[in-house]
Amino acid sequence: MVKAWYMDNKDADQRLEHHKSPHEYLSLETLYQKTGVEHYSITCSESCLPDFENKLKSFYTEHLHTDEEIRLVLDGSGYFDVRDGKDDWIRIAVSKGDLIIIPAGIYHRFTLDLKNYIKAKRYFVGEPIWHPYNRPSDNMECRLNYLHHQVNGFRPITPK
Ligand code: LAC
Ligand code: NI
Repeated sequence: MVKAWYMDNKDADQRLEHHKSPHEYLSLETLYQKTGVEHYSITCSESCLPDFENKLKSFYTEHLHTDEEIRLVLDGSGYFDVRDGKDDWIRIAVSKGDLIIIPAGIYHRFTLDLKNYIKAKRYFVGEPIWHPYNRPSDNMECRLNYLHHQVNGFRPITPK
């Protein structure tokens, strides 16, 4: 759990906690409101999916999730395909060291590439939720929220 607090102005060793007196903590929500800094507690579920072979077929069936899909590619490579606002597919090549976050409510799918190998970790905000809702799932709340963001502009990860 990340903690955040206001600092004193003392000259002492910078590696000390430098709490104000009395201590004044910020909730993560306040931190976000004041600074735009975001923090999520993530759970690492599993690396190297069991029965991956059998999953490959359903991964390539167009679907969405109610939560973000967060994947860290540990080894190998593959393609995430996502739909743009005109319903055209965009192929995203990922390989070792890539972290990809696919928003809730976006239609997407995944496939291996010709090298036929990927090892990825799945991360979740809170409890693992990975249930795929195959298309069409157009009236789901997460879908409507996603479309709203798509129309009104996604907030950049690093504010300009
Ligand atoms: C998933 C990816 C493959 O749902 O879209 O795990
Ligand atoms: Ni998915």
